[in-house]
Order: sequence, then structure tokens, then C-alpha cells
Amino acid sequence: MEVDRRVFIASLGGPAVVALMDHEAKAEALEHYMEEKLDEMVAAQQPEKFPTVAEIEAQIETRPYRRGAGTVFTGRGGENVKKLQPMPAKPTLNDFFELRFAPANHVLQSATRAMKTGMSEEIILACLLHDCVLSLIKPDHGWWGAQLFEPYIPEKSAFAIRYHQTLRFYPDEEAGYEYPDQYYRIFGHDYTPPQYIQDTYKMLKNHKWYMEPRLVTVNDLYAFDPNAKVSIEPFQDIIGRHFKQPKEGLGYDNSPSAHMWRTLARPDNPL
Ligand SMILES: [Fe+2]
Ligand SMILES: [Fe+2]
Repeated sequence: MEVDRRVFIASLGGPAVVALMDHEAKAEALEHYMEEKLDEMVAAQQPEKFPTVAEIEAQIETRPYRRGAGTVFTGRGGENVKKLQPMPAKPTLNDFFELRFAPANHVLQSATRAMKTGMSEEIILACLLHDCVLSLIKPDHGWWGAQLFEPYIPEKSAFAIRYHQTLRFYPDEEAGYEYPDQYYRIFGHDYTPPQYIQDTYKMLKNHKWYMEPRLVTVNDLYAFDPNAKVSIEPFQDIIGRHFKQPKEGLGYDNSPSAHMWRTLARPDNPL
């Protein structure tokens, strides 16, 4: 085992403290330090212990908010929320990406992966938008997300967004999709999806568009490269071709989801 001298000396309280220690005390401290390090290394190799559904439920009353609240409504890491920049008068999808969905790393990385692997433009667009609605609300985000975007995008992309939520619970080895560890972490390792999700899966298995939401799940990875630089720029052509930007601005075109865009624009409104 390698010992980082600086870290070791700092762990004892710094060079001044070490200077006061006799030889035997130093040897003992080193042995103790190495034992601790070894324990840490062994622990790191242990398979992760996932919570149970009951353990996750027991956390509900430890929070001042519900887990389903959209991210624009909660502070990061228990901090107070920040003042949001106002939206322009006629906001576009790009404005929402910049001012409400940001940093949007997850969806940008999903879409980047879909583009690199040569998927259809409908799928790339679906990947780019598939989790944006989490800013507004989290439960049933497939349905909410599809509803938010439906008036503006191809039917196949909306289908893919609506049903990726369901297919996330069902592995498909042939398509290259495994059940994600993240779901053991956030739902509990003994979680069973509710009946409506099971029924939706049954419907999707025989649907001619099964692969549309399936390919969103294939690109829906949590193992991110934290150094990856992603931006919305490579997707501007696809947005231009497939996203029907309303001339009045998102929220002001009287579409069935206009109110959802307005809520995203002004989440501090009390009513
Ligand atoms: Fe999702
Ligand atoms: Fe996702």
C-alpha cells in the first residue's frame, strides 16, 4: 500500500505535531493509518448496499419538500432557492434550456450519445427532451414530458418521451439496456413497478414503435463522464427541423401545454 506522506502527516495534525512524536508513536500512527486505509479499500470493493422500499419511505418525513417536486421549486442540496433570471417575452426552446433546464447535462449527454451512434433525428430529439420536465415535476415524468412537448414535436418523439419512463424498469439485453443500479438506489432494491406501469409495458412490447422509447432508455445512462463538454449547439439543426417554435413564444400560443411552459417560466407565482 502506498502512503501519501503529506496526507498522512496532515491526518496527524501537521508537521509540528509529528515533530513532537517519538519514534514509537510515529510507527504506531502509521500502522493505524494504514489499517484504516486498508479498510477503506476493502469497503470500496464491496458491492453497494441498496436501500429497501421501506427505508426509502421512512425518509419522507425527514425532508421539507416531496421527492416529486420539480427542480425549479427546490434548492440544491437543501439550500435556499436562487432568484431566477426572467424569461424573454417570447421564449424559445433554447431560452428554456438556458434559463430553466440548465445545466441539462443529462439530456445533452443522452442526445450526444444518440447522435454519435447514428440514431434517427426523432430519437435524438426525444433524448434531448426526455427528462426536461423534471424541472417542473418528477412523478410520471414520461407522461408529463410528452404532454409538454407534444404540440411542437413529431409524434414518434413524443411517444418515445412518454414511454421511456416505463421501459426504464424493463431490461432488454438485445437492445443493450440493463436495469440501472440507480433505480435500486432511488426506488429500493425490492421495488415492483405499479400495475399501470406493468400494463403499459405489456402494451409497448407488441407496439410497432416499441424501439422508439427503448432507444431513449439505451441512451439514458447515468454513468457520466464528468469532464465531457456538452452543449445544445450540435442540435440546433435538428431543433430547427423538428421543433415547431410558436411565434408567440412558448407559453403564449394557447397550446394544450402552454400553461406548463408559463409555470416553468414563473415558478415563484403564488397562484
Ligand atoms: Fe427519464
Ligand atoms: Fe434520463
